Amino acid sequence: MRKTIPSLFVLTLLVACGKEPPTQDPHAPASRTHADPLRAPLGLADVELVKADGNPLTAKKAALGKKLFFDNRLSKSGKMNCASCHHVDKAFTDGQQFSQKDSGKRNSRNAPTMYNVGYYPELYWDGRTKGLEQNTKAAWTGQLGGDPAAVAAKLNAVPAYEQEFQAAFGAPASEATIVQAISSFLRTLRSGNSAYDRFQNGEASALSEEAKKGMELFMGKAGCQTCHTPPLFTDRLYHNVGIGMNAESPDMGRAKKTKNDQDKGKFKTPTLREIAKTAPYFHDGSVKTLREAVKLMASGGIENPHRQAMDKALLTDKQLSDEEIDQLVAFLQALSGDVPFPAPAVPE
Ligand code: HEC
Ligand code: HEC
Repeated sequence: MRKTIPSLFVLTLLVACGKEPPTQDPHAPASRTHADPLRAPLGLADVELVKADGNPLTAKKAALGKKLFFDNRLSKSGKMNCASCHHVDKAFTDGQQFSQKDSGKRNSRNAPTMYNVGYYPELYWDGRTKGLEQNTKAAWTGQLGGDPAAVAAKLNAVPAYEQEFQAAFGAPASEATIVQAISSFLRTLRSGNSAYDRFQNGEASALSEEAKKGMELFMGKAGCQTCHTPPLFTDRLYHNVGIGMNAESPDMGRAKKTKNDQDKGKFKTPTLREIAKTAPYFHDGSVKTLREAVKLMASGGIENPHRQAMDKALLTDKQLSDEEIDQLVAFLQALSGDVPFPAPAVPE
C-alpha cells in the first residue's frame, strides 16, 4: 500500500515526460511481499547459512518459531517475549543502551539485530555460543528466565500449538523442539534486497550519487570492507576497536570466553546491514547516532593498550572530511532491506 502513491507519481511523471513506463522490475514490491522465507534475498544468494545440526530448516518450523518469538508464555513473569528486546520496527533491536531482563536485571551489552544471525557460526558480541540453538536456549533461560519444562507443558495445553508442534516436528513441545523452532525462525530473518543489492544487480539508479561516493570510500581508502566485508558486511571475526576500553573496569569481550590476552577488548564485527535502524551503536550502546559511529570508526576507534598489531594496522585515522563522512553515512543508509514483516497471531 505504502508504495502506491510514489509509484503512481513516478508513472505520471514519466508519462508527462513522454517516456514509456519502465518494464517490470524483477525486484519490485511484488517479489518483496511474496518473499519465500526459505529463499535468500537478493544479495545473499551465494552465502550459505551455517549448518544446523539435526535441525533442517522447514517453513513449518519457522512459522511456529515466529509465534514463539512473540509469545509471553516463554518468560517466567508471563509478561515478556523475545520481541520485547528485539523490536520488529528497529530491525529487531530495541533502541535502548541496555535492556532490562525478565528478572529486572539490566543487560551490560546492547541488543543486536536478528537479521542474518543464521550466518554467524558463533553468537553474542563475544561469540560465546556456537550456533543458534545454543544461543536461543541461553536467551530463553537468561533473558526471559524461562523454565523449559514448565513452558513446554503450558504450550502443550494449547490445542493450536499442540497441532503445530506435531505438524512441524511430529512431536510435542519440549525444550528441544521449542529451541529448534525459534532457531529456524531466526534463520529466515535475512536482510538483503537493499538499494545497494539492487545497484549491484544492475539497477544503476538504486544508489544516489552521494551513496555511490560513500561506497567507493567504504571499499577503498576508508578501509571499512576489510572487517565489514560484503555481502554480509561482517568478516564474522573479532577485533579491538577500543569501545569502552577507557571505562574503569572495561568489558574485555572475546577474552572473557577464550581467556586469551590477545583477545582483550575484541568484539564480533557486527553486520552493517539495517544499520540505519539500530541506534544506539556498539556493544555498549555508547554512541547515539550513525554519523558519530562512522566518524569514530573512520578515525581509527579508541586507542588502548590491548590492541594487537593487525587491528593497529587496520584501525588508523583515515582523515576523512565532513563531506566524506556524510557520503559513508549515505551509503550505510542504503543497506536496509525493505522486507515487510507481518507480526504473527499468537495462539490464545
Ligand atoms: C531483555 C532483553 C532481551 C530479550 C528478552 C532477548 N534478548 Fe536476545 N539479546 C539481548 C542482548 C542484550 C543481546 C547481546 C548479548 C551479548 O552479546 O552478550 C542479545 C543477543 C541475541 C542474539 C545474538 C545475536 C548475535 O548477533 O550474536 C540472539 C540470536 C538473540 N539475542 C536471540 C534472542 C531470542 C531467541 C530471544 C527469546 C528467547 C531473545 N533474544 C530475548 C537482549 C534480549
Ligand atoms: C578492524 C576491523 C574494523 C574496521 C576496519 C572497521 N570496523 Fe566498524 N566495527 C568493527 C567492530 C569489531 C565493531 C564493534 C565494536 C564494538 O562494539 O566494540 C564495529 C562497529 C561498527 C559500527 C557500529 C555497529 C553497531 O551495530 O553498533 C559501525 C557503524 C561501523 N563499525 C562502521 C565502520 C565504518 C564506516 C568503517 C570504515 C571507516 C569501519 N567500521 C571499519 C570492526 C571494524
